[in-house]
Amino acid sequence: MSVFSLLLRSVFLAATLLRVAADQVIYSDDSLSNGWQDWSWGTTLDYAATNIKEDSSSISVNSTAWSALSLKSPSTIGSFAGLRFDIAGNQPEVQIYIESTVDNVQAPTIPLTALSQNVNTTGFTSLLLDFSALPPAGDPLGAGTWDRINLQAQGNGAVYNIDNIILVDSIVVEPKFLSAEPIGTNTIAVTGQGDIDFSKVTAQLNGKAVKVTSVTTVPSVDVSTKSITYITLASRFSSGTLSILTDGAASYTYTLPAALSGFVNQFNTYPINPRVYGVNFPTSASYIQHLGVTISRKGGNAETAYNPFGDFTNAGNDWYFENRAGDNADNWISWVKDANSEAILLLPALDWVSKDATSYSYPKTVYPDQAAFDPFNADAGNGQFANGSWVSPPDPSHAYTPWNVTAAKTYLTGLQNKPEVITIDNEIEIASSTHQDMHPTPLGYDEIFERVINFSAVAKEALPDVQVAAPSTCAWWFYWTSAVGDADKAAHNGSDFLPWFLAQMQTHDKNAKKRFLDFLDIHYYFAPDTSANDDAAKALRLRMSRSLWDPTYVDESWISGPASNSQPNPDSVNLIPRMHTLIEKYYPGTKLSIGEWSSSADTDLTGGLLTVDMLGIFGRYKLDQATYWATPDEKGPVGLAYWLFRGYGIYFGDLSAQVSIPKLDPNVLGVYASTNSLHNNATLVVVNKSPTDPVALDISGIPKGNYFLRHFGGQAGVAKFQTTISIESTQYLVVPAYTAVFLQQRK
Ligand SMILES: *[C@@H]1O[C@H](CO)[C@@H](O)[C@H](O)[C@H]1NC(C)=O
Ligand SMILES: *[C@@H]1O[C@H](CO)[C@@H](O)[C@H](O)[C@H]1NC(C)=O
Ligand SMILES: *[C@@H]1O[C@H](CO)[C@@H](O)[C@H](O)[C@H]1NC(C)=O
Ligand SMILES: *[C@@H]1O[C@H](CO)[C@@H](O)[C@H](O)[C@H]1NC(C)=O
Ligand SMILES: *[C@@H]1O[C@H](CO)[C@@H](O)[C@H](O)[C@H]1NC(C)=O
Ligand SMILES: *[C@@H]1O[C@H](CO)[C@@H](O)[C@H](O)[C@H]1NC(C)=O
Ligand SMILES: *[C@@H]1O[C@H](CO)[C@@H](O)[C@H](O)[C@H]1NC(C)=O
Repeated sequence: MSVFSLLLRSVFLAATLLRVAADQVIYSDDSLSNGWQDWSWGTTLDYAATNIKEDSSSISVNSTAWSALSLKSPSTIGSFAGLRFDIAGNQPEVQIYIESTVDNVQAPTIPLTALSQNVNTTGFTSLLLDFSALPPAGDPLGAGTWDRINLQAQGNGAVYNIDNIILVDSIVVEPKFLSAEPIGTNTIAVTGQGDIDFSKVTAQLNGKAVKVTSVTTVPSVDVSTKSITYITLASRFSSGTLSILTDGAASYTYTLPAALSGFVNQFNTYPINPRVYGVNFPTSASYIQHLGVTISRKGGNAETAYNPFGDFTNAGNDWYFENRAGDNADNWISWVKDANSEAILLLPALDWVSKDATSYSYPKTVYPDQAAFDPFNADAGNGQFANGSWVSPPDPSHAYTPWNVTAAKTYLTGLQNKPEVITIDNEIEIASSTHQDMHPTPLGYDEIFERVINFSAVAKEALPDVQVAAPSTCAWWFYWTSAVGDADKAAHNGSDFLPWFLAQMQTHDKNAKKRFLDFLDIHYYFAPDTSANDDAAKALRLRMSRSLWDPTYVDESWISGPASNSQPNPDSVNLIPRMHTLIEKYYPGTKLSIGEWSSSADTDLTGGLLTVDMLGIFGRYKLDQATYWATPDEKGPVGLAYWLFRGYGIYFGDLSAQVSIPKLDPNVLGVYASTNSLHNNATLVVVNKSPTDPVALDISGIPKGNYFLRHFGGQAGVAKFQTTISIESTQYLVVPAYTAVFLQQRK
């Protein structure tokens, strides 16, 4: 090395050192540095903990529910490139968010799981939060007077150690291939980080080199830091071994399986009710547009106590029976409908609604002996003794004001903006638990029926065009049995609840010569326990969608135990066909609605893949209406499923088309086809539920030509990717593992 280059090198080193020196240590040992202050709440901290440490000590943190380790900077931190820290603990349930105390704003919340799913007590895991792309969505932190960092525990509290908390001045992204997967008939989708050279990618099929005909890089729909590169091959995929070679740094090998054969018949169709693509509580007009939400519901436990003459609600048993401010229904309907969504409004049907935004039912001053109190309001208790039994019911007027059909009629008559659908209350059959403070007596068959009739009558008087949905029953058990118990069923000719309810409604409406019930509305939360979220739980999550339609699927839950009902084949939920049969028998012409349902894992990729399967099933099995509980994150896995079907004005067709793939295994694959009545565009949605294996389809009946392709999942991850591809033959169509694709003919 010459003297000159040595000189250059030391200048370069000095410059590098200067930049490195601009990192800022917040904590490394024993105490906070550089003027940082402890603004934590509800948290026990030891800054000189030695139970686990790097160098002399670490911080041990023990946060109660919703409390936080909170660190405040004397100056703004937005000019740093990121935050690095080392953390140890049993994957503590913590979310991170950066805040501005000056402007009182909060950056998006980052679950710790988005940085690592493997934090453990054995050693520290070193994590880096890149301010230019905050996970999980990849948005930049952006400009702002950011000066506070919070690590907030979830409902179970969090215990962990943290060390070496450092604001870093720069993040060097080393070029690296991250994924390369076959998709479609001859396309390889490649992702990477940093400045990588995609022209070096080559492919071999069964040992023979395949020419690359084009390379196109496309940004993700709404995360500017993510992109995908589509490499089009000169020949089509076929079964065998596909090797994708990058610049030598990484290579990927796939076993492409034998294709599953079948057909799509675009001329054998029936309409899909667009109302199956609904959600509860969309966040904004753009949310509705970006995800193509067709119908929005304002419902849930708190809305049972909605007082429209002041806009108050009560959280009930979900949060210490506290009143709070609610959204004004009229305004809500107005903006939701302006955004092109229909509206479902919950009409309270108990005897009380909230009287203000601040009262609560079980003050400690009145009931000192309660099991739990609100961590943010030490006087508000949960209404239960330590042994789980209820304290004596309070005087409802502490938190509520009377409500009846007259008030309901005044409310609905006064609405400037009209909902299309009204649900009579919400899970009213369990009010003696969710709203124990104002309706401690369990509701039986008769009371539920009477309340539905009484409030439906005024809804229809006030809003002649409105459709009524009821009884919004919470779960399988209560579809058949009331909270009163077996005696109530015995008193009703031994009939299960929903069939009895439908029959009563039919008799009533025949006499009234008018429908008081338009939709049978139920809530459906999957009964199998997938909370472990390990490989077995994920596979179970992805196959439990069979409970919506498959009479041969024995529910993998308590439901397949001793039957609490006299329904045929009670071990199988077979939800939609079962409900259709009941409707046909007891009140023909009634529509079927699922007012609440959930994927069981909103932040996990498998929750998104399950949602794709569900949206496909809803259309195929002629459901009339469904609204997801609740607002899925627009950029999270469940939001992506809605986007796949309906995002940004590009819709799965309005007609469900016949699909026949005799060897399809619904545990690992879902295939849905549609066409639209306007242009007859062929549309296909495929969800591959296998975590490891690509799937190949040989489907006739899909025309050749250009197709708009959308996909998410697989190695490419939770991001919205789309492009246009050409399909010359549908004899071998590949969908990667854990991936959902949407293909729509562009004529
Ligand atoms: C954390 O604090 C709670 C009290 O808030 C206490 O019961 C628990 O034992 C503490 N956990 C540890 C590991 O110190
Ligand atoms: C704990 O985390 C560290 C750092 O991520 C990792 O190297 C180690 O394998 C993990 N240990 C266990 C038991 O998972
Ligand atoms: C629960 O505890 C309360 C208060 O100590 C007591 O009055 C009640 O009888 C207990 N209930 C049961 C079922 O043990
Ligand atoms: C509802 O309550 C109001 C106020 O107490 C009362 O005037 C009205 O008669 C009640 N309506 C019915 C149907 O009981
Ligand atoms: C329903 O209305 C009728 C007639 O006004 C009334 O007698 C009955 O108590 C009401 N039912 C309930 C459960 O409020
Ligand atoms: C009672 O149930 C039996 C069958 O379980 C049925 O035949 C009968 O019609 C029912 N009666 C009424 C009043 O619903
Ligand atoms: C279907 O084909 C038409 C006509 O070629 C095209 O304009 C349109 O974008 C395609 N997609 C839909 C959803 O109509």
